[in-house]
Amino acid sequence: MKPTEFEIIYTLAAAVIIMLALSGFVVYFIFSSQKRRIRQDHEQQQLKEAYEKEVLTTQIESRDQTLRDVSQEIHDNMGQLLSVARINLNILEKELDGQAPVKRITDTNQILADVIKYIRMLSKGLNSDMLTSYGLRESIRFELQRIEQTAMINCQFHTQGEDFNIDSKKEIVIFRMVQEILNNILKHAAATEISISMVYTALDFQLRISDNGKGFSPGDNYSRTIEDAGSGLRNLQKRAALVGAEINIDSSPGMGTIITIRLPKITEHVTQ
Ligand SMILES: Nc1ncnc2c1ncn2[C@@H]1O[C@H](COP(=O)(O)OP(=O)(O)OP(=O)(O)O)[C@@H](O)[C@H]1O
Ligand SMILES: [Mg+2]
Repeated sequence: MKPTEFEIIYTLAAAVIIMLALSGFVVYFIFSSQKRRIRQDHEQQQLKEAYEKEVLTTQIESRDQTLRDVSQEIHDNMGQLLSVARINLNILEKELDGQAPVKRITDTNQILADVIKYIRMLSKGLNSDMLTSYGLRESIRFELQRIEQTAMINCQFHTQGEDFNIDSKKEIVIFRMVQEILNNILKHAAATEISISMVYTALDFQLRISDNGKGFSPGDNYSRTIEDAGSGLRNLQKRAALVGAEINIDSSPGMGTIITIRLPKITEHVTQ
């Protein structure tokens, strides 16, 4: 029996519909498995970032605790021993009243007085409780003052705008970043001038630290061997990401260094 024209058309239409449905299904299957893979990659990436954040936060917290312990130790033990040495020298100075070695004793006494002062300042810089009590602005001013007095570098400090409250954990991270930047200047820059400006605007907090030292090529650090590579600059980048700040390092040999940190007023990052 020959199929009628209607049956042929019907069969062809059915075949086309089935093929369309099949290819639709294949497209849907590819599309949804691709979507699933992207979602899985995204979740994995988020997990990795959360894990890295967690590790860094723990590192920062344990480092902070170590610094507090060192600070306490310096303050309680070294500071006290030096004070006792000064008391002894004071007594000797009086006992020897006017006799020949008294000048040397007076000088040594003065040296000890300076060492005690520096140690107290150092101890304060290490302890983040000071930061909580006095705030970021005063703590940074204090660090600069310490450098000005101990390293004989001319320091400028400039602030602008009304301070706004920055989460205390973020403040500790930013303060430790500033300390690393200043340490780098002392260690590597051979600078004669350091300038820090802190600007608070309605949108963000901007910190700028510049030195007139020898400068460097920031890109070169990434090509150093593991033995040579420092961790300071790398940690700066990681810490900035941790608190939701942007950091920019502008330096080149012979041109000094300018580092800027910008922390938006509201960020979705949390340092828990
Ligand atoms: N202000 C600066 N002036 C000149 N060179 C600098 C300055 N800051 C950093 N550098 C250069 O960048 C390099 C990397 O700095 P980084 O802080 O990462 O390491 P480091 O200070 O050598 O070691 P670490 O911080 O681990 O103790 C330094 O070795 C130095 O050559
Ligand atoms: Mg360093």
